[in-house]
Amino acid sequence: MNNDDVYAEGLLNSALDPRTQPPAIRDFLSAEAELVRTLVPLGGRVVDIGCGTGRHLIAMKDDVSQGVGVDYEKAYIAEAIRQRPNRRLQFLVGDATAVPLDADFDRAVCLTNTWGTMADKMAVVDEMKRLAPAEGARILSVYAPPSIPARKEWYRNLGHDIDSVTEERVVTKGGFITEHFTEERLRGLIGPCKIQPIGKIAFVAQY
Ligand SMILES: C[S@@+](CC[C@H](N)C(=O)[O-])C[C@H]1O[C@@H](n2cnc3c(N)ncnc32)[C@H](O)[C@@H]1O
Repeated sequence: MNNDDVYAEGLLNSALDPRTQPPAIRDFLSAEAELVRTLVPLGGRVVDIGCGTGRHLIAMKDDVSQGVGVDYEKAYIAEAIRQRPNRRLQFLVGDATAVPLDADFDRAVCLTNTWGTMADKMAVVDEMKRLAPAEGARILSVYAPPSIPARKEWYRNLGHDIDSVTEERVVTKGGFITEHFTEERLRGLIGPCKIQPIGKIAFVAQY
C-alpha cells in the first residue's frame, strides 16, 4: 500500500475523530486553526490544497469571499460538498500537482502536514505559487521532529503499526508515509520563507 491507497480507505475520517488523537495532536490542531485564521485576510480568496473533507475552509466560511478546496480523494470531496455551509465555498476533485483551476487567490494553504504526505512536494510548491502569486501568500503547515512520539501513538490508534522512523519520515507497516521537517530542511526545499512554531510539534511556513 502507499499513501494514495491509505487515503482511499478513508484514513482521514478516523484521524479527525478526536478519540483517536493523542493530547499533543489535539493541541496542535487547535493551535494551527487559531494561527491560520490570523494569516488569512478577511474577505480573501483562499485555495486549500489537499483539503480532505474541507474542515479548514468550513471553519473560515464567514471570513472568506471565496474558498476552493481541492483533493484527489473523491469520497472526501463528496463529504465536503455535503457539509458545504454556503456558496462561497466550492470543493473539487483534483491532484495537487496539477490543480484544475486557472484563477488567482490571496492565499494558497496546504495544512496539517498534508504536504508532508505528498509524493511530489516541489510540484505542489509550484502549483501554490501559480495559484497565489504574491510573495508570502503560500502557507504550509508541517510537523517538526518533536511530533514523532505523538504521531506514532496516533497512527497506532488508527490501526497502523509503525515500521520505521528516520530523520525525515515515519513509515507504517501498511506503507503510509508522513514526513517531518527541521527549519533547515524546510528552507532547503521551499527557499526563503517566514517560519513560525505551532506549539512544540509543528511549524507554519509562509513563502
Ligand atoms: C493529512 S490529510 C489532511 C486533510 C485536510 N487538509 C485536513 O487538514 O483536514 C491529507 C489530504 O491530502 C490529500 N492528498 C494527498 N496527496 C494528494 C494529491 N497529490 N493531490 C490532492 N490531494 C492529495 C489526501 O486525500 C488527504 O485528504
